[in-house]
Amino acid sequence: MNTNKENLENLITDNPKLHDWGRGLVSGGLGPPILSKITTYLLEEFGESNFCSLETGAGLSTLVFAAAIPKRHIAINPDHELKKRIFDEAERRSISLENVEYITEFSEDVLPDLAKREAVDLALIDGGHGWPTVFVDFCYANMMLRKGGIMIVDDITLYPCTALYMLLKHQPGWVLEEIIYLKTAFFRKETAAVRLPDFGGQPYLTNNLIQHRT
Ligand SMILES: C[S@@+](CC[C@H](N)C(=O)[O-])C[C@H]1O[C@@H](n2cnc3c(N)ncnc32)[C@H](O)[C@@H]1O
Repeated sequence: MNTNKENLENLITDNPKLHDWGRGLVSGGLGPPILSKITTYLLEEFGESNFCSLETGAGLSTLVFAAAIPKRHIAINPDHELKKRIFDEAERRSISLENVEYITEFSEDVLPDLAKREAVDLALIDGGHGWPTVFVDFCYANMMLRKGGIMIVDDITLYPCTALYMLLKHQPGWVLEEIIYLKTAFFRKETAAVRLPDFGGQPYLTNNLIQHRT
């Protein structure tokens, strides 16, 4: 059995292609610097066997969370074939999935229930990228994410993800730590609030009102 650090380094370098989007197997788009940054939070800040994490979407990221050895990791993705490829790859690399709950459902169907009973240190939003999924994922991931935890928003050049990125960038209680490849934003949650305030407490909205002239 390899150590988790060796498994992680090999995984990130090898970048196995796990997704089938109709043009042969491709990688999920999280490149080495993004995965290394996630690994740094997991191993150096939270610690092996000491973190609980959530991801919407799944793929290589699921293997990275697993190889870092979570206390508990929840991955949500409705694609059964992808699950099989992830599990096969984990077996091939001797990565334990013992503490991984892989839920083959749409995130919007399961997050409301999960949010009632799960707390996490880190959440990766990388599932459905359209409206309203990104914000549905954020809403429940925010309920689950503890104060001091990390919220990762991928694909911030896609408009729903851009909107979430802009909202959090200007939101009290949220600090942008890094953006990698102009693609993936890492925010630290510095508030214990489980939901955002209504629009009057969202500076990104109140500072960008359309002014009417009568
Ligand atoms: C960009 S990929 C995730 C890449 C992954 N993080 C990786 O490292 O390989 C997005 C995934 O989200 C899945 N997805 C789409 N809508 C979803 C939803 N509503 N809930 C959960 N997953 C969803 C897609 O099937 C796709 O596999």
